[in-house]
Amino acid sequence: MSAQTLDLLETPAAVVDLGRMERNLQRAAEYTAQHGLALRPHVKTHKSPLIAAEQLRLGAVGLTCATPMEAEVMSQVCNDLLVAYPPVGSARAARIARLAERAKVTVALDSERAIADIAAAAKEAGVTVGVYVELDLGMHRVGVPDAASAVALARRVIAEPSLEYRGLAFYPGHVREAVSDQDAALRALSESLGSALDELARADVAPKVVSGGSTPTLWRSHEIKGVTEIRPGTYVFNDRTTAAVGACERDDCALTVLATVVSTAVPGQAVIDAGTKALGREPMRGVEGEGFGALRDRPEVVVARMSEEHGILDLARTDWRPRVGDRVRVIPNHVCIVVHLNDLVYGVRGATVERSWRVEARGRGQLEIASA
Ligand SMILES: Cc1ncc(COP(=O)(O)O)c(C=O)c1O
Repeated sequence: MSAQTLDLLETPAAVVDLGRMERNLQRAAEYTAQHGLALRPHVKTHKSPLIAAEQLRLGAVGLTCATPMEAEVMSQVCNDLLVAYPPVGSARAARIARLAERAKVTVALDSERAIADIAAAAKEAGVTVGVYVELDLGMHRVGVPDAASAVALARRVIAEPSLEYRGLAFYPGHVREAVSDQDAALRALSESLGSALDELARADVAPKVVSGGSTPTLWRSHEIKGVTEIRPGTYVFNDRTTAAVGACERDDCALTVLATVVSTAVPGQAVIDAGTKALGREPMRGVEGEGFGALRDRPEVVVARMSEEHGILDLARTDWRPRVGDRVRVIPNHVCIVVHLNDLVYGVRGATVERSWRVEARGRGQLEIASA
C-alpha cells in the first residue's frame, strides 16, 4: 500500500521517526570518523538489513550480530560479520561457519570448548573463521578474567588451521552511569585494557583489532585507550534509558509505540492497547525512572502496570484526561525488545507513514521437523 497517515495505522504499532533515525546514524558515523574509530554497529536493535545497509553506506566497517539468524539475514547486505556471542554447540557453530563461504566471519569467544566447536565447524565447511578473544573488563557476563587467560586462548586459536586470530573484544555494558559521571569508569577501563594489551604484546599475540563500545559510552569511546572498533546498537533508535543516561536527548528517541486508549473506566488511569506484548517488561536499568515506558508528548505520564495487551497509564501527575479512542506514542524503556516483538516497523515523517519494513532477523530461524 502507498503512503498513508499515522492515524489510520492499526495499533499497537512500532513507529520510527525517520528524520530522528537518520540523524542518529549520521551523528555516530561522524563521531567515529572524527576519532579514527571503526564502527561495527550491533544489529540486535533493528534486526533489519535495510537499516544495516544504511549504516554501511555511512561508513560502518561491518556489522555485529548476536545470533546465527541475525548473521544469516545480514549476509544479504554485508560481507564482514562479527558474531559477538560464544559459538558453542555444533548446530550454532555450523550455521556460523557456513556463512564464511560468502562473507568474512569473526566470532568472539572465551573458552577452549568454543574454540573446538567453531574450529571443527569451519574445517567441516572448508572455510576460515576469525576469532576475537573476549576479555571481561567489568561486565562479568562473558570474557576471560585476565590477560594470561587471553594469551592462552589466543595461542590455542593460532594453533587451529581453520581459525584466524583477529583481535580482542570486551563489552563495557556495566558502565551505566550518566555520561557526565563516567570519568572514573572510563579511566578504569583504559587502565585494565592497557595492561592487558601490554601483556598480550609481550606474549607476541598483540591484537590487530580491539573491539568494545556500547550506546551509554558511545560519545566517550575515544577515551578508552586502545580501542580501535566500537559496536553500539541501541543508538540507531535510542530509548528512555539512553536518554536518562544522557547518551541522547529525549528528541533523539526515534522509535515509539503508537497505542490507542481503550478504557478510562477506572478513575485515575487510562488503559492503552500496548502491554507486555508490545512494550516488553523492561524496567529502567541502572537509572532513575518508574514504569515501563513514558509518553513521548507527556513525559510525566508513564506506563505504570501492564497485562499482556493492556498498559495502564498513571494519571496521578498530570491534569491531562484522555478520552477512549485517543492515540498516544510511548517511548519504551528498552527499544531492542520492542523491535523484537514486532513483525513490521513503520517509518514516518510527521504524520505521513512513508513505508514499512519487516523485522527480518527476528526469531531464530530454527530447523523445522516434519512429522514422519
Ligand atoms: C556484545 C555486545 N556488543 C555491543 C552491544 C551494543 O550495546 P548497546 O545496546 O549499548 O548499544 C551489545 C548489547 O547488548 C552487546 O551484547
